[in-house]
Amino acid sequence: MIIDGKKISSLLVEEVKEEISAIKKKTNKSPSLSVILIGDFVPSQIYVQNKKKKSLEVGINSEVIRYSKEISEKEVIKKINELNNKKEVSGILVQLPLPDQINKEKIINAIHPSKDVDGFNPLNVGNLASGYKAIIPCTPLGCLLLIKNIESNLSGKHAVIVGRSNLNGKPMAQLLLKENCTITIAHSKTKALKDICAKADILVVAAGVSNLVKNDWVKKGAIVIDVGINKIKDRLVGDVDFNDVKDKAKAITPVPGGVGPMTIACLLKNTLECFKKQNS
Ligand code: GUN
Repeated sequence: MIIDGKKISSLLVEEVKEEISAIKKKTNKSPSLSVILIGDFVPSQIYVQNKKKKSLEVGINSEVIRYSKEISEKEVIKKINELNNKKEVSGILVQLPLPDQINKEKIINAIHPSKDVDGFNPLNVGNLASGYKAIIPCTPLGCLLLIKNIESNLSGKHAVIVGRSNLNGKPMAQLLLKENCTITIAHSKTKALKDICAKADILVVAAGVSNLVKNDWVKKGAIVIDVGINKIKDRLVGDVDFNDVKDKAKAITPVPGGVGPMTIACLLKNTLECFKKQNS
């Protein structure tokens, strides 16, 4: 079965849109998202434009604040503080990666945890790890929703996550642990990666290596979630060799049209959640 991320995300987007419309009718207020984009990295520009377009579609006010790649860290932090203090801003997102002169840790720490729609601030990371209420990073949240769309009870399943980034691998592990899965986090230094992947009931791959996962890396009947987006010539491919794996998996996400649309839908949901908490 091919998991239709476009369809599943559109249901979530519709829910968010309806809720915002109801809030607006009642209070005449709506959520607002400020995105900071630094430099001219083309994929970031595309992601940010998509985030803005989708936000506007569901009734989230959206502004993109652009800086040249030479901007100082101090200047960006000053802007973040300004946005932190603006009552009408519900969510702040600084698009990654950042230029070398800007320290990612300082930027992430500067965003107020209640406006941290990415869920990258250590307070949100710690709350998630502790099993408390947290803003959950959009991509792993999207992956979890796709997995739960296939199977609602994940208790006792062996989940293997390839990749240990703060954006994907680590929060994905926390989310699946919360679902009572047994977790293995594999990464670039892992030995016998193929054998470990082949034991997974749920395999989430965020390795950044195109077509890494082949047919014999996958257990028959596994759920395979491909977080990878790699460009080969003019084609987008994932970290999983889709055609090689698709008949062995119980369910698999395509690239594009799998995880990608879920990430944006979850960003809209997180922005709405931040707005609701700030106005409750
Ligand atoms: N760059 C790639 N993915 C992401 C994301 O989810 N959030 C931010 N802020 N930057 C990214």
